Amino acid sequence: MTYLVTGGAGFIGANFVKYLLKNYRDIQIIVLDDLTYAGNLGTIKDDLKDERLIFVKGNIKDAEATCPIFEKYGVQWLVNFAAESHVDRSIENPQLFLETNILGTQNLLETAKKYWATGKDKNGYPTYKDGVKYLQVSTDEVYGSLGETGFFTEKTPLDPRSPYSASKAGADLIVKAYGETYKMPVNITRCSNNYGPYHFPEKLIPLIIKNILEGKQLPVYGNGSNIRDWLYVEDHCKAIDLVLAKGKVGEVYNIGGHNEKKNIDIVKLTISTVRNLLEENKEYKKVLKRSGEDISWINESLISYVKDRLGHDQRYAIDPTKITTELGWYPETRFEEGIVKTIRWYLENQDWVEEVTSGDYQHYYRQMYGNR
Ligand code: NAD
Ligand code: TYD
Repeated sequence: MTYLVTGGAGFIGANFVKYLLKNYRDIQIIVLDDLTYAGNLGTIKDDLKDERLIFVKGNIKDAEATCPIFEKYGVQWLVNFAAESHVDRSIENPQLFLETNILGTQNLLETAKKYWATGKDKNGYPTYKDGVKYLQVSTDEVYGSLGETGFFTEKTPLDPRSPYSASKAGADLIVKAYGETYKMPVNITRCSNNYGPYHFPEKLIPLIIKNILEGKQLPVYGNGSNIRDWLYVEDHCKAIDLVLAKGKVGEVYNIGGHNEKKNIDIVKLTISTVRNLLEENKEYKKVLKRSGEDISWINESLISYVKDRLGHDQRYAIDPTKITTELGWYPETRFEEGIVKTIRWYLENQDWVEEVTSGDYQHYYRQMYGNR
């Protein structure tokens, strides 16, 4: 099987590449990534020693980047992770989100259509090579925001509220349009918030871990009561793998594991877990920017309530019944285990954190959070 994985140097894309290499022998993976601030070749540098993996730098918006890959490698499955993915950045620069997330998706679809089409049927619809598929990695944020009750199902109307989620919803609609108009074999997956290794430290969990280790304040937007539904990244990868192989063409699958948490509870749990791990293994203390044996300063007094995000969605929660009953997917990693694994990974991989935050990050952080 030959995969094109776009955005494979980012958080979930890189985890997916590692998942494929670990679980399948006879595969070829081409990663197309433009290495924006969120993409880091270092994340997959060891994997690139494996001849099953090839890296191409390029923008998903450009046919000059996407067409040669199809010509040269005969892509069979395209999984599109590439996107501008951070809500806060979308509030500052919505246009980039529309360009990458919508126009980029459309160029990928157009390229795949061109190289996968084999002819036309009697009604004028294109026909395609056997077994090819386009999978769009989307988000539960396209459904908008929930009140205290209810869950997003695949039938929930799209109601995006941020420039990020609007651009992802736009991308979903153009994928659906290619599925209907050109009968392209497509799937869309809509996942809840992921956490795990290689998560860029502008998102809540890795940012909180990084700030604790630096002895900085922990910014909580508004009153911290917003709720997200957290899923360990490897469970997301497993779901995508299943949808590629077994998902019914044209269908949407929601991915989430009934793991709703208030932001403030995530922050408090992260504080106590970091402290426990530092106490358990003295080696870990070396990563602290504040020296000294005493770590009693790692406590909830680091929490700082800051100005709320504009249009901050209150609650996301996925109903995963469809993917569970139709494809047999279920999340394997309990949150209590996943968060410990994740924090341990960050404690052991500070080189990675330093590498990805050495460029634009410092500027971004100052602009977003001032000098806290
Ligand atoms: P990320 O920001 O960590 O990575 C995105 C990757 O895409 C980076 O490697 C970046 O360099 C690359 N990229 C950006 N613009 C590009 C372009 N124009 N051309 C080529 N490459 C480009 O994002 P992530 O968290 O790994 O998310 C991956 C996908 O999953 C996104 O589509 C996102 O919307 C979706 N998603 C993410 C979450 C989550 O919790 N992180 C949840 C649900 C869905
Ligand atoms: P984030 O990780 O940016 O993911 P998303 O906005 O896609 O859900 O944010 C998760 C939640 O944490 C969201 O409700 C916003 C909140 N948040 C903070 O309170 N402080 C922060 O510094 C960040 C980055 C997020």
